[in-house]
Amino acid sequence: MARTNPYVYGSPIAAGAAEAFADREEELAVLEGALASGGNVILLAPRRYGKTSLLNIAVGRVVERGVRAGRVTLADCTDLQDVCESLLHGILEGPARWRERGVDAVRELVGHLRPRLEVAPDGSLRVGLDVESGRDPWRRLLYDVLRVLEAVRATGDEVALVIDEFQRAYELDDAVPGVVKRLCDEMPGVSLVLSGSRRHLMERLSGRGAPLARVGTRIALPKVPRDRMCDFLVRRCATGGRMLAAGVAEHIHDLAAGVPNEVQQLASHAFDQASGNRVRIADVDEALSRIVRQGRFEYVAILRALAPSQRRLLRELARGGPKPSVQTGVMVRSLRVSNPSAVRRALVALEEDDLVEQTPEGWEVSNPFLALWLRDYVGDD
Ligand SMILES: Nc1ncnc2c1ncn2[C@@H]1O[C@H](COP(=O)(O)OP(=O)(O)OP(=O)(O)O)[C@@H](O)[C@H]1O
Ligand SMILES: [Mg+2]
Repeated sequence: MARTNPYVYGSPIAAGAAEAFADREEELAVLEGALASGGNVILLAPRRYGKTSLLNIAVGRVVERGVRAGRVTLADCTDLQDVCESLLHGILEGPARWRERGVDAVRELVGHLRPRLEVAPDGSLRVGLDVESGRDPWRRLLYDVLRVLEAVRATGDEVALVIDEFQRAYELDDAVPGVVKRLCDEMPGVSLVLSGSRRHLMERLSGRGAPLARVGTRIALPKVPRDRMCDFLVRRCATGGRMLAAGVAEHIHDLAAGVPNEVQQLASHAFDQASGNRVRIADVDEALSRIVRQGRFEYVAILRALAPSQRRLLRELARGGPKPSVQTGVMVRSLRVSNPSAVRRALVALEEDDLVEQTPEGWEVSNPFLALWLRDYVGDD
């Protein structure tokens, strides 16, 4: 029988592919409720836990219910101009529905911003904005761009905009949260969802006492519960034409430390590795050693770029067993530094590089395969 690999990893799952996505029903219900009723949400999770996929699915579901919703990412923005242009583009694609209404109709809606709007030969919309130079005019324009949502809302439909990688705008200009907070207060009928992966930044802008602390519901996305992720792996494998025993699914899950992207990556490689109608433990182990072999140049480059104390801390956090406490004298000695604040600095530097995450179990290496490599393949220096 023809077999198709049923596992997806490496890029967000599209709105229409919810079968490739495990669980998250509670988070979806909260998000959908907010998107369809003018509620605001702050969504926080480490990299590759499934934020964008979750947002895609939630937006897809509410659009089907008639909500004027859209998602925009600020991941690649390099300045406030990019932020303003990306947001306007997202508003025109999503809530303003330029594809249905035509570019001239939306030109009327946003004419006061004096944008350059051009439909490219491939059918995509190009959006350009200009102001006199300086930060303040861009901050004012950011406000005016998001205010367009209120004008769309005046048509009567529910309106929602999801801003993915929101922390990027804050990294570029720390006045952004204040502007967004003001808009949340002024546009109670519009739903804004702000999503981000850099915990320290998102905390600074939405933690207690921060500008966006009380604008709406906070969702901290955990790993998918182990039993649900394993059931999902078993079910998906069957749709691809192979059997996966529960114990093998658990082995995959645990080797990938439950990080959704890496769980699917390992499952996908194990599926390809299998030869008969079953995926076995040996297929998983072989798939893992391939992934680690392929990744080792990258892992070496990561280690080389780190200061010695950071490198030692990464190795400490990669050790198996209970997560070590970072606040102890033992850690000061292991890192060969002089005091706990040097441990703290090393930890902050690793977190800023997205190499470690704080999880409910403690600090861990973000990439479980890098952690396995550090544990099993790198000797002491
Ligand atoms: N609920 C889930 N069930 C199964 N797989 C998932 C789930 N959530 C995420 N994944 C896996 O993780 C991969 C990455 O998802 P996604 O891009 O949505 O994560 P992200 O948190 O937005 O990552 P980033 O921080 O890098 O933007 C997906 O391709 C999929 O393999
Ligand atoms: Mg994402």
